[in-house]
Amino acid sequence: MPRVYTSFDEFNSQNTELQTNLPFSEDVSVLGTPFEIGGKIIPNRLVCQAMEGCDGTADGRPDTLTKRRYDRFAKGGAGLIWFEATAVMREARANPRQLFINENNLDDFKREVESIKETALKVNGYEPMIVMQATHSGRYSKPNGTPQPLIAYNNPIFEKDCPISPDRIVTDEYLDRVGEALVKGAMLAEKAGFDGVDIKCCHRYLNSELLSAFDRDGRYGGSLENRTRLLRESVLGAVQSCSKDFLVSSRLNVYDGFKHPYGFGVKKDGSLELDLSEPDWLIKELYKYGVRLLNITMGNPYFNPHVNRPYAQGGYEAPEHPLTGVARVLNGTAELKEKNPQMAIICSAVSFLGTAAPNVVAAFIKENKFDLAGFGRTVFAYPDFAKDVLTKGSMDKNKICICCSKCTEIMRKPGGTPGCVIRDKEVYLPIYKELCGGK
Ligand SMILES: Cc1cc2nc3c(=O)[nH]c(=O)nc-3n(C[C@H](O)[C@H](O)[C@H](O)COP(=O)(O)O)c2cc1C
Repeated sequence: MPRVYTSFDEFNSQNTELQTNLPFSEDVSVLGTPFEIGGKIIPNRLVCQAMEGCDGTADGRPDTLTKRRYDRFAKGGAGLIWFEATAVMREARANPRQLFINENNLDDFKREVESIKETALKVNGYEPMIVMQATHSGRYSKPNGTPQPLIAYNNPIFEKDCPISPDRIVTDEYLDRVGEALVKGAMLAEKAGFDGVDIKCCHRYLNSELLSAFDRDGRYGGSLENRTRLLRESVLGAVQSCSKDFLVSSRLNVYDGFKHPYGFGVKKDGSLELDLSEPDWLIKELYKYGVRLLNITMGNPYFNPHVNRPYAQGGYEAPEHPLTGVARVLNGTAELKEKNPQMAIICSAVSFLGTAAPNVVAAFIKENKFDLAGFGRTVFAYPDFAKDVLTKGSMDKNKICICCSKCTEIMRKPGGTPGCVIRDKEVYLPIYKELCGGK
């Protein structure tokens, strides 16, 4: 079974053996350098990626576990906190406890943002930038705990065992309303004190699914302009409706890992090979609208998690070594940065690199192959990772995420509130035992 790296030698020899060609730098000091974006300063290059806890209140406010998570992230010292998937319409929630920003609970979000900033300032001497991820869960909507899919098109890959009635395909008029809700979500995020908003377009939630709606008729399907319409128009709407110093961004899937016509960023020859020409066009369009920061990701966590979050242990045996998966995301991200040097770019999917992660991302950043390094599962296991990287130049091998997928297992169970079962076991082991029957 593959193992997360706990020594540089292990990483370097596997990187050579698998010809993954990931760069490596002994010196990680670049990760401590500030980064300017849209007139604001991100204090360092380390990012807590969006990590949903499914632990809000029934009406969408941050609850006890939510506050605990962000308190730990705030103390951890990352320069940027990508605040988790937050629904902008009631029916768009992926679970009954997904955060849902609206006028009635705006003050709760305001208090949460203030609390993160105050805590970080007190503990680290600086405030992180915080970007809220605005989402519509589309195909994965479960607002009351049971699937209520709202899909862009019927997809035989996903629906093989569980067909979805075509009347769950959303109309163009509904998509117009989603666009309005995303813009309103951006305005609410600004009012709540976030530094920016992410019009989420990844992991096959609604906006991301539209990117591959090749066979859909109407204004949101077929041509590249149409398939990217919801994202582009929501981004433009947010830029026009929010103030100048509020960042409008997107977490963008640039490759889904499904054959044409069911995937974005894939060659049209029936293979699974990357073709980043459409994502490249999209990035250039978003730049024209004023977007200066993008968070790049790949894959679908429900159908090909080995692409999305390469793991040591998961629901199935992956068809490739996890390092190959990490390299696909990092090298694909670097390819897009090379084509778009003017756009600031955050990478994803580095947790499997273990203690080698800071050295690999530092090497990429030094070579201007991306600008900021996003850590996902790591932040559940090791919320202080940034502090250790910034002060000691390394991560502690006894604290890293082991990529065992137990957080995902919890998340897939009704009522599950994910966290790290291994490193945060006082809170999450009992939850895992109760819901997943694990030891
Ligand atoms: C429990 C869990 C919750 C997640 N929640 C979100 C989310 O709210 N939004 C998002 O864009 N990605 C989410 N992700 C994906 C991560 O942000 C990240 O892309 C993925 O884990 C790969 O990065 P890593 O290798 O550093 O973990 C989640 C992943 C997990 C395991």
